[in-house]
Amino acid sequence: MKVARYTAYGPPATIEFIEAPIPSPGPGEVLVKVCAAPVTAGDARLRSGKVPRGLGIMLRLGIGLRRPRVSPGWAFSGEIAGLGARVTSFAPGQRVFGLTGFKGGAHAEYLTAPAEGRVLPLPETLSIEEGAAFFFGGLTAAEFLIDRAGLTAGERVLVAGATGAVGGAAVQIARHLGAEVVATASPENHALALGLGAGSVTDYRDPLPAGPFDVIVDVMGRLGWKTSAPHLAPGGRLVLITATLSQMLGAALRPRRGTHRVLTGTNKDSRAAMERLVTLHQAGGYRPFVGPILPFADLARAHERAESFHKPGNIVVVM
Ligand SMILES: NC(=O)c1ccc[n+]([C@@H]2O[C@H](COP(=O)([O-])OP(=O)(O)OC[C@H]3O[C@@H](n4cnc5c(N)ncnc54)[C@H](OP(=O)(O)O)[C@@H]3O)[C@@H](O)[C@H]2O)c1
Repeated sequence: MKVARYTAYGPPATIEFIEAPIPSPGPGEVLVKVCAAPVTAGDARLRSGKVPRGLGIMLRLGIGLRRPRVSPGWAFSGEIAGLGARVTSFAPGQRVFGLTGFKGGAHAEYLTAPAEGRVLPLPETLSIEEGAAFFFGGLTAAEFLIDRAGLTAGERVLVAGATGAVGGAAVQIARHLGAEVVATASPENHALALGLGAGSVTDYRDPLPAGPFDVIVDVMGRLGWKTSAPHLAPGGRLVLITATLSQMLGAALRPRRGTHRVLTGTNKDSRAAMERLVTLHQAGGYRPFVGPILPFADLARAHERAESFHKPGNIVVVM
């Protein structure tokens, strides 16, 4: 089978393909024939080593000093191609989707995964490409809006950068929770932002739309506390999806600023969080927007697009 590999921190050309034997599922594992996988902002950051200021050394201590010692690809959709001993919860040919976690390995034609872990049946209501795109932005938006910001119906939310993987999910989930959603996006994506459920949209290069907002979701971390604070309502929460080390430390040491709160961090990718997102989808609250779809052989081109941070929705490669 064809498997992608990172050879160094660097541009997309540092990705290479190798041939490897198809793995055998161990006891309690399934073998998945991967049909599609997303190429996310996270994939681009791991490959390039380019992370928000201050986090580079932590990344390299975590995954490798000279090259990323993780395998490319964090999420997948596909079908069950084999069952290990004692697996009764899946059937051969069944459509599934899931996460490999931090160790990666989804940018491959096959993978094995624990049957009771982060692999779930793919609902009939999602295509294979939507299944691949489902988790990255959706898990992030759901955790920050529901668990951390505690968004409630009737609140006003600004999603700054509303049409990528995270922003697109945040718009939909906030709207589903009964919030009024105001968006910013580049002009070519205004129709997309409105289609995802924003009530209004302006260019993110213009002054911020009129507040106050109960929650500001700063997707690219371009607003920060100083710009956002005057636009927060009493009790307002600033969600920094992208944050530098100093912003993270600041939020950890001083999360409360008057009546306001600053929220940063990374999201969880547990099976329970995945199942909650499926429930949200089934309730009509979330469907990932799939943008460019490329063949697996064009993985490097997909990475180029992902690291622009200007993609509409999610990029997916198909195997
Ligand atoms: N904290 C976490 O756990 C977590 C989880 C997932 C992702 N992230 C981070 O979140 C960020 C977004 O990820 P993503 O997958 O959503 O990326 P993406 O799909 O590339 O989307 C980026 C979005 O930001 C917008 N944007 C670009 N420049 C902007 C600016 N100057 N001001 C406002 N908006 C701007 C883009 O709009 P246009 O296309 O219209 O230009 C696009 O909507 C990345 O930095 C990623 O590393 C963090």
